[in-house]
This record gives sequence, C-alpha cells and structure tokens, in this order.
Amino acid sequence: MIDTVSRAFFHAIARSHRLKHLASRYGMRRPDSFARRFIAGETVEDAIAVARAIEADGLTQTLDLLGESVGTMADADAATRAYLTVIDRIVASGIERNISLKLTQLGLTIDRATSVDNLRRMLDAAGAHGFFVRIDMEGSRFTQVTMEVFETMWQQGYRNAGIVLQSYLPRSMADANRMNELGARVRLVKGAYKERKGTAFQDKRQVDAAFVGTYPAIATHDPAMIDATRAFAAKQGIAADRYELQMLYGVRRDLQAQLKADGYRVRVYVPFGSEWFPYFMRRLGERPANIGFVIRAISQDR
Ligand code: FDA
Repeated sequence: MIDTVSRAFFHAIARSHRLKHLASRYGMRRPDSFARRFIAGETVEDAIAVARAIEADGLTQTLDLLGESVGTMADADAATRAYLTVIDRIVASGIERNISLKLTQLGLTIDRATSVDNLRRMLDAAGAHGFFVRIDMEGSRFTQVTMEVFETMWQQGYRNAGIVLQSYLPRSMADANRMNELGARVRLVKGAYKERKGTAFQDKRQVDAAFVGTYPAIATHDPAMIDATRAFAAKQGIAADRYELQMLYGVRRDLQAQLKADGYRVRVYVPFGSEWFPYFMRRLGERPANIGFVIRAISQDR
C-alpha cells in the first residue's frame, strides 16, 4: 500500500514543470549536487568518465542518454541525432559498446513509423560498431507496441538489440517465452511505472514471485531476487558467465562490488543527460527515504 501511494506521489510530481525547473537548477550544478547520486552528469564526457571508473573496478556498464516521451517529430529527430553522436563518442573513448534507449525518446508517442525509422538509424550505426542496444520498457500502454517493434526489427535481421520485460505485468511470462523462442536477449526487471490494478500486480509478493526463473539479464537490487537467481542458475547448471546481474548507477554499490568479488558478471546502468528529471523521480518513488538526502542537499546548497 505504502509502495503504491509513494509511487503515485512521485509519478505525479514528476509531471510538475515548476519542480522540474527547481530541480534542474540545483540537481546537477556541482559534482556533489543531489541528482548526481543517480545520474552520471549532463554530458557524454561525464558518462564516459563514470563508465571508465566502473570498468576499472571490473564491472561492465550500459550508457543511457536520458529522454522520453518527446513531443514533436523534430524533437525525436534531435534525440536520435544526439544518440548517434553518443555512439561516436563511445567508440572514440574505447569503453565497452553497450547502450540503452527508449522508444518514446525516438518519437513513439508521435508516430510509430518515424520512431521505427529512428530506431533503425540507431541500430544500423550501433551494429556497424559492434554495439549492443537494449530497448528499455516503459509504461504498460507501450508494452505491446514495443514488443511488436522489437520483433519486427528482429525479423529484419537486427540481432544487436535486446528487450526488457517487467515482472509486475502478468503478460511478461508469455512475452518471455516468445523472446526465448526467438533467442532474443531479455533484461528482467520488476517494473518502475505506476500501473493500475488489473494491468500490473500490486502486491510486492506477486511481483517477486514472477521474477524468479527468467534468463539472462536479471536487473534488481533485491538480495532475495539475486539469491533466487543464483539458486536457479546453480540448480540448472548455468555457469556464472552465462547471465548478468544488472543494477542502477548509485544504487547498492556495496552489493555490486560484493557480487563482482563473488565471481558474478555485474553491469551498471549509467544514465546521463539533461533530461534526467523523470528518471530521477522514479528512483525517489522506489525508495522514499531518498527524499531525505535531496532535502538536505538543497538546504546546504542554497
Ligand atoms: P525493490 O524495489 O524491491 O528494491 C530492493 C532493494 O533495493 C531496496 O530495499 C533497496 O535497498 C534497494 N533499492 C531499490 N531501488 C532503490 C533506489 N531507487 N534507491 C536506493 N535503493 C534502492 N524498469 C522498467 O520499468 N523498465 C526498464 O527498462 C528498466 N530498466 C532497468 C535497468 C536496470 C539495470 C535496473 C537495475 C532496473 C531497471 N528498471 C527498469 C527498474 C526496475 O523496474 C525497478 O523499478 C528497480 O530496479 C527497483 O526494483 P528492485 O528490483 O531493485 O527491487
């Protein structure tokens, strides 16, 4: 119940332009500003520096140029071009070539065909340089279309892309079976969006139960889910290098380091860019205790 209420609250304020303006003013302006706990910075150079540090610790990373639900075709084109530049910068930097993106960033809410064209531009450029591209999963009104777009690209021969499934959606079991039939790479998460009863499981125990048993990128900070993954893999004889554990930048760094030390592959999701507010609010909604450090940081920063 508290989970649902706090999530609704943070999702509601994520839509506030005033708060976005205020947060943008304070959140990122200094190296210790509050948004930097979860966001690598506003520029690709900031993200590459974070990625280098992660790789130096023996972990791997995926970079995410933040952005979602762009409002015009011009914005979708600009976002695509910005991401193509990011690809070039990553290649030049020598860090691992792995990115995550959202279809609404490429224009899905405006025009499906245009967003598919933009995705193709991304996959072509990424494929030419040996990138893996993860298509993040957004709110449930985009699930079906995201699955369809992904499968279309797959049928057209794009194999450098993977998808995300959310265990809070009852449909994800069937989607996982379909992705396994295709041989597509899946990242499994619990799900970060505010969903209605009937669309998504509301009870944390149901979300957790649906999480166990899917393969191969398990993205969670929940020690119980990580233990379940390890137990499942051990029982099935799946070696630790046949799947990945993934976590978000700034969340449970201790656990990330411990799992690496225990011999597991750990990938850190590194978001960056000026459009960080909705992502940041989702992180606060997951753990309302985080609001404390934001308030402290703003009061010290003024
Ligand atoms: P849960 O929320 O139960 O948290 C378990 C524990 O982790 C908490 O008790 C706390 O210790 C810690 N924790 C979790 N969130 C925290 C936070 N914000 N701050 C501090 N501590 C925190 N979702 C989605 O819908 N589409 C997507 O494409 C993705 N992509 C994605 C990639 C990667 C690499 C990760 C790790 C996660 C996502 N997610 C996502 C987000 C995911 O759906 C989910 O909202 C978060 O991972 C939180 O759920 P947990 O599995 O960590 O469990």
